[in-house]
Amino acid sequence: DNATSETILLPADAAGLTRAAEVLGAGGLIAFPTETVYGLGADARQSDAVAGIYAAKGRPSFNPLIVHVADLAAAEALVTFTPRARQLAQAFWPGALTLVLPLRAGAGVSSLVTAGLSTLAVRVPAHPIAQCLLRAFGGPVAAPSANPSGRISPTTAAHVLTGLGGRIAGVVDGGPCGVGVESTILDLTGKPVLLRAGGIPAEALEAAIGASLDRSSETGAITAPGMMASHYAPRGTMRLNATAARPGEILLGFGEVQGDLSLSRAGDLREAAANLFDCLHRLDAMAATAIAVAPVPAHGLGAAINDRLSRAAAPRD
Ligand code: TXA
Ligand code: MG
Repeated sequence: DNATSETILLPADAAGLTRAAEVLGAGGLIAFPTETVYGLGADARQSDAVAGIYAAKGRPSFNPLIVHVADLAAAEALVTFTPRARQLAQAFWPGALTLVLPLRAGAGVSSLVTAGLSTLAVRVPAHPIAQCLLRAFGGPVAAPSANPSGRISPTTAAHVLTGLGGRIAGVVDGGPCGVGVESTILDLTGKPVLLRAGGIPAEALEAAIGASLDRSSETGAITAPGMMASHYAPRGTMRLNATAARPGEILLGFGEVQGDLSLSRAGDLREAAANLFDCLHRLDAMAATAIAVAPVPAHGLGAAINDRLSRAAAPRD
């Protein structure tokens, strides 16, 4: 297997980020904070390094990775932008939006990153530590969420260590992620298709482009290659849209539905997104075997929250 002896916890200061950039350059794996979730980074140009991501996560090799760069200019070197893509990038980057665009010939990205597709998913993260790391490294960083495949995404360095400790070289500790759900993925290779609901609500994208998106992914009809039915799974079973716990269940509340713990007592979707994965990690740490979850409204960030909850509740294998 891919076990390394020890995973170093790196401070998010100049020395820690210099060290992290060196490890990336040497083909190692470094987890780092973004505003959405922690990513598991590797140099996107080094196939051995990218192969290490799949091995560390136990990720199926047909599931392509998102490449992170520091700015739009760096993204333009990797993919071909249409005017609409550039408009969205200017409006939402840096931020929680991933664009799927045609890969440029000579981009230099390993074919393991795209799983052989002719398109590439790119994102410019807003987190200041991610920005500093990308600038210190100076190249494209492939980074899926830093969790074992199929399990709960990490929003703290401790979550990363719980899932991948001993399997990766290091994790930069940047504290909890502010957004808490992954980026919104938009395919712009044809008419705009929402591939994954995420940190930028679809309504905001539609307002920016003045047109509606194909949102059939919300019903499961179309999705990104890696959007498995079961994903984000805590160890316990999950029952959704619960207004009270049944015997033996632990209730995860929202708003007026008071739980043993709550996504947001105020019923605030931003707060709920930021708390979502930490609550699921805490339920795992409590060894919860049966989890009930209060209803969460479907609008705005609620779309991403409900998407993650329904995958966390889906039958496994
Ligand atoms: O917020 C995020 O997006 C985080 C942080 C670390 O940036 N990353 C993340 O990566 O969520 P990951 O690997 O957990 O999810 C990436 C998704 C997968 O569902 C994958 O199938 C899809 O992006 N994807 C990657 N490349 C694609 C492509 N060329 N076409 C369509 N979907 C793609
Ligand atoms: Mg993921």
